[in-house]
Amino acid sequence: MKKYKVGVIGATGMVGQRFVSLLAGHPWFDLTVVAASPRSAGKTYEEAAGARWLMDSPMPETIKPLIVKNAEADVAEIAAAVDFIFSAVDMKKEEIAALEEAYAKAECPVVSNNSAHRWTPDVPMVVPELNPEHLAVLEHQRKRLGTERGFIAVKSNCSIQSYVPAFHPLREEFGVSKALVCTYQAISGAGKNFDTWPEMIDNVIPLIGGEEEKSEQEPLKIWGSVENGVIVPATAPAITTQCIRVPVSNGHMAAVFVSFDRKPAIEQIKERWASFEGIPQKLKLPSAPEQFLHYFEEENRPQNKLDRMLECGMAVSIGRLREDTQYDYKFVCLSHNTLRGAAGGAVLLAELLCAQDYITTK
Ligand SMILES: NC(=O)c1ccc[n+]([C@@H]2O[C@H](COP(=O)([O-])OP(=O)(O)OC[C@H]3O[C@@H](n4cnc5c(N)ncnc54)[C@H](OP(=O)(O)O)[C@@H]3O)[C@@H](O)[C@H]2O)c1
Repeated sequence: MKKYKVGVIGATGMVGQRFVSLLAGHPWFDLTVVAASPRSAGKTYEEAAGARWLMDSPMPETIKPLIVKNAEADVAEIAAAVDFIFSAVDMKKEEIAALEEAYAKAECPVVSNNSAHRWTPDVPMVVPELNPEHLAVLEHQRKRLGTERGFIAVKSNCSIQSYVPAFHPLREEFGVSKALVCTYQAISGAGKNFDTWPEMIDNVIPLIGGEEEKSEQEPLKIWGSVENGVIVPATAPAITTQCIRVPVSNGHMAAVFVSFDRKPAIEQIKERWASFEGIPQKLKLPSAPEQFLHYFEEENRPQNKLDRMLECGMAVSIGRLREDTQYDYKFVCLSHNTLRGAAGGAVLLAELLCAQDYITTK
């Protein structure tokens, strides 16, 4: 099989490093271009990122000598050199939106980890197991951009990647009417570890700027419908959240309270979770977990340290499902924020886009 040539913009940052690690040895994708800010451009990847390499695995040898490009100044050169790019830059929202559109208009598909285009109506925001049908709007987007190959597809925020998958198999049959969710989010979600953010040791911070709005609104786009080439968000369920930063390296936990239009039995919920599979499982995409939703019967699971790496950090762990006095049920769920919640989720989306011929090799 001919491999897809891939670039990462923002390759030197925390999410970018995850992309670099995940793409090393990927069966379909060959990482040939890395790009970042003018601060890194012109250096080898090893010189630019070596001192701030945060991954557990060593920097891949094949990537070390690549010369870092300038993500903004070298758009045409990068677009010509690769089949598509992953975007993990950290810039002002308007600048990211313009930069991603510049790549798309240069006929380079963009699979983005950023929030800049999440609310652009013809940009699909996709969790591959949940709403792959939203990719249909890409045809409309290409017409708007005047492109043949180029488009932007995005993944959703890391905070919603545990409870939205847990609700999904229950929605159609039982109707999720309302939910209250408190998230306990790892410091890697802010691009930090305990060396770079020592104030987080022995501490909890009750605000993650902008996170609660994303956690309440993004699920509605994921469950939206495709109408006239755009995504019209769903109007239910009503979700209220509090998002809290906790002293954990990786993994976002969520404590969930949920009510239904037609209350299911506990065993029905567990059965729907156990039997749920999406297109990534059916197509056996390289990064797809075999079992997306894992339910733990043990009362003290899931735990960040024990369970965040389940199925290479791409599965969702759920536990403590029980009746509640105010809502129908409550439970706890966990997903890895920089794997399923960021780079891993974007790589899986790119695999789906390739499998469905939205991205082709040149
Ligand atoms: N961390 C997470 O778990 C997570 C989850 C979901 C989404 N996100 C989002 O993903 C993005 C990256 O997050 P991060 O944590 O990886 O940030 P980060 O560690 O600060 O890395 C930022 C990256 O953007 C590059 N960059 C900054 N200014 C640039 C410019 N003017 N032109 C081109 N490149 C520029 C940096 O290059 P230099 O190294 O050259 O400065 C670096 O490669 C952010 O938008 C963030 O909101 C993060």
